[in-house]
Amino acid sequence: MTQPTRPDYPIADLMLKRTSPRAFSPEPMAPAALRQCLEALRWAPSCFNAQPWRLLVAPRQDEAAFAALTGCLVEGNRIWAAQASVIGVALAVSHFEHNGKPNAWAQHDVGLGLAQLNLQAVALGYATHLMGGFDKNAVRALANVPEGAEPLVAFVIGKEADPSVLPESLRDKECAPRTRKAQADWVFSTHYGTPLNLG
Ligand SMILES: Cc1cc2nc3c(=O)[nH]c(=O)nc-3n(C[C@H](O)[C@H](O)[C@H](O)COP(=O)(O)O)c2cc1C
Repeated sequence: MTQPTRPDYPIADLMLKRTSPRAFSPEPMAPAALRQCLEALRWAPSCFNAQPWRLLVAPRQDEAAFAALTGCLVEGNRIWAAQASVIGVALAVSHFEHNGKPNAWAQHDVGLGLAQLNLQAVALGYATHLMGGFDKNAVRALANVPEGAEPLVAFVIGKEADPSVLPESLRDKECAPRTRKAQADWVFSTHYGTPLNLG
């Protein structure tokens, strides 16, 4: 299993439990559970409530769609992601619908939405893994994506499995300690680079 989260300060349980495993057991996800994850994304905040997220989703029960979307991943992701229960690609709509102007926060808001999807999945006993490693043009062609919608990140949802299901080359990665920069490296006072001092 992926290594535990070791926070410097206590954080809520869902975030403690969230990791991005590569070892998944290839079982279907109940449609109701998938809908719950999508609903969690739906209620994310977004600039002007524009909801700039669009999702392409293929549950593994739909073999053709699942194979088509996993086929858009880079090889290094496909080898493990193909064992997950659901694959998706999140897209960002680049302009506001209400005035046609560029939405500088579109990608940000898609990320916020995915964070909510991730945590809802954890609450239901699933894990997620986001991937930048996929062919955007292949996704565009496959799904007939219109201009103005940008494939941003692929993701899988699934049941975490024992790392022994992975090829040897990935097993060590899966079991490596999970690390983060210290807060002092990125939480500043009003002077960039000076760590925030809370006494
Ligand atoms: C936008 C984004 C792109 C990512 N792309 C990949 C990827 O292509 N392949 C992969 O194995 N992991 C990918 N990851 C997962 C990160 O490597 C992972 O979140 C990070 O190492 C922290 O580990 P944790 O999620 O278990 O805390 C991506 C994560 C994000 C947010």
